[in-house]
Amino acid sequence: MSYSVALNFEDGATRFIQCRGMETVADAAYRSGVNIPIDCREGACGTCKCRVESGQFKLGDYVEDALSRAEFEQGYALACQMRPTGDCVVLVAASSVACNTREEAYETVVEEVRALSDSTFSLVLSGPRLSQLVFLPGQYAKLHIPGTDEFRSYSFSSMGRPDQISFLIRNVPGGRMSTYLLKEARPGDALRVTGPLGGFYLRDVKRPVLMLAGGTGLAPFLAMLDKLVAQGGASHPIHLIYGVNTDGDVVEFERLQAFTQRLAGFSFDVCVVDKGSQYPRKGYVTQHMLPEQLHGGNVDIYLCGPPPMVEAVAKHLQDNALTSSSFLYEKFAPSAV
Ligand code: FES
Repeated sequence: MSYSVALNFEDGATRFIQCRGMETVADAAYRSGVNIPIDCREGACGTCKCRVESGQFKLGDYVEDALSRAEFEQGYALACQMRPTGDCVVLVAASSVACNTREEAYETVVEEVRALSDSTFSLVLSGPRLSQLVFLPGQYAKLHIPGTDEFRSYSFSSMGRPDQISFLIRNVPGGRMSTYLLKEARPGDALRVTGPLGGFYLRDVKRPVLMLAGGTGLAPFLAMLDKLVAQGGASHPIHLIYGVNTDGDVVEFERLQAFTQRLAGFSFDVCVVDKGSQYPRKGYVTQHMLPEQLHGGNVDIYLCGPPPMVEAVAKHLQDNALTSSSFLYEKFAPSAV
């Protein structure tokens, strides 16, 4: 048995896919080359939340955080869990352009591994097929560690040459990827990449933007800023607060400075937890979020950092009754041994 599912996108485009048997909408969409926003695929994160306008389906398993009772009653479901039992119409919370990106495998070679600091590498990969790897600034890819069946996920850190992609990678002592990059990787080595992935990407800039980066969480913002420069700028101010633990963790400072020249309305601050830092702003990102950067709530906040930082910022906003038009975040945790 197969059911027809109409996917309606934010920009008004519609695409029909066929759900076979008890296939989920997300699986059918990806099989058809439509990359609707998903992340965990387990009914835990809510990234794939969509509104079902008509049709019968089984809701599947999920946690309350991903889909509340009230949302269910308003017609929302999780595309990674819902299995149609009849033809359906589903509103996808993304544009058709965003969903046309595909997660595919690309064979690349290591172009460069460079230590930017004691704690961070820059990795550049190249390959002729990379010109077909279209991604949205802020998305990530899976890098498959050679000689293993393991992979690690990293955000693209630039929108550079069509045959190259780059990443910022935290040096995790004992970590498989760190060990590979430190001890084994040589220019020309093969490395497989799959992607792009993720719902953390830059939306249209319709109001001021506040970007909050923790450590290598800077990477997606570098790609976003590259994109804004390439498209001729943004019509609203963009401020980035980049938080790290020590001065030695600060990377790509000159690149950020260059963005202040290349992108009108862009500014940034670095804040360092270490009290002995040479940088004037010490402490955590939340201590340096100024009222003028929140524009009375008329601001889109993007945050990429480790889970404690994401939770601290969310708590800071809530405790201080600070509002924003949107708050989009990406949590990451470096994998150790
Ligand atoms: Fe996380 Fe569906 S992708 S809930």
